[in-house]
Amino acid sequence: MIEFKDVYKSFDDKHVLRGINLTVNEGELISILGPSGCGKSVTLKHIIGILQPDRGEVWVDGQFVPKLSRNGLQELRKRVGVLFQSAALFDSMSVKENVAFMLRMHTRMLETEIDKRVAECLAQVELRGVEELNPDELSGGMRKRVGLARAIAMKPNYILYDEPTTGLDPKTAIIIGDLIVRLQRQLNITSIVVTHDVKLATDISDRIALFHDGKVAAIGAPAEISQDGGQLIRQFMEGQL
Ligand SMILES: Nc1ncnc2c1ncn2[C@@H]1O[C@H](COP(=O)(O)OP(=O)(O)OP(=O)(O)O)[C@@H](O)[C@H]1O
Ligand SMILES: [Mg+2]
Repeated sequence: MIEFKDVYKSFDDKHVLRGINLTVNEGELISILGPSGCGKSVTLKHIIGILQPDRGEVWVDGQFVPKLSRNGLQELRKRVGVLFQSAALFDSMSVKENVAFMLRMHTRMLETEIDKRVAECLAQVELRGVEELNPDELSGGMRKRVGLARAIAMKPNYILYDEPTTGLDPKTAIIIGDLIVRLQRQLNITSIVVTHDVKLATDISDRIALFHDGKVAAIGAPAEISQDGGQLIRQFMEGQL
């Protein structure tokens, strides 16, 4: 379970998070919607301890993240896979080495075991036989999928997706959305999806949280939020937030 309790975060005089309260339950898929610059990526970075709150509490599996030691953070990051906003792959490394990165760093797997695990992860994202390609030989959708394969390599309990479909065509976006749901269901991965894509959020989420003014302005099941959060969601879609 991931919990934010009244989390505040400012950069100089820019008050980004102003009392975030959010609980993500075991096995849940929750989407975070909100305008650009409202602190969605900043929120995700608190979960893996890249950023520290100025005030408030961030808990993952009963651990208080801001007080974790270096080792504690390393252990945490094995359990939390991240698909970063830019799907930042290492361009100088093959697809295989990108997917194997955490395995080499954090496990003592043999080369044959690494080969097997990399192939498994690529199969999960419906890519096969691309191990030896370089990232610059891949399409945008393939890059996202390789990023996803890398995120699941350590068999995480959680995956944080930062705009997994941005820049993809609608068909590829749907494929990625299906994949996110499949990973959640088959591997029971608790998932947070940050997105601007209201349709994606509506299609795949158990709950949607709408961020506004540094707070969770509305939260609920997609059907609920389109009623309760209706006005805000409409404003968000119409570009008024
Ligand atoms: N390390 C940092 N130092 C200073 N300011 C930062 C830092 N990280 C984020 N910010 C600022 O915090 C605000 C929120 O950033 P964040 O990246 O969380 O936005 P976002 O909601 O993810 O937006 P987008 O939808 O465009 O990705 C921005 O104004 C950004 O400039
Ligand atoms: Mg962002």
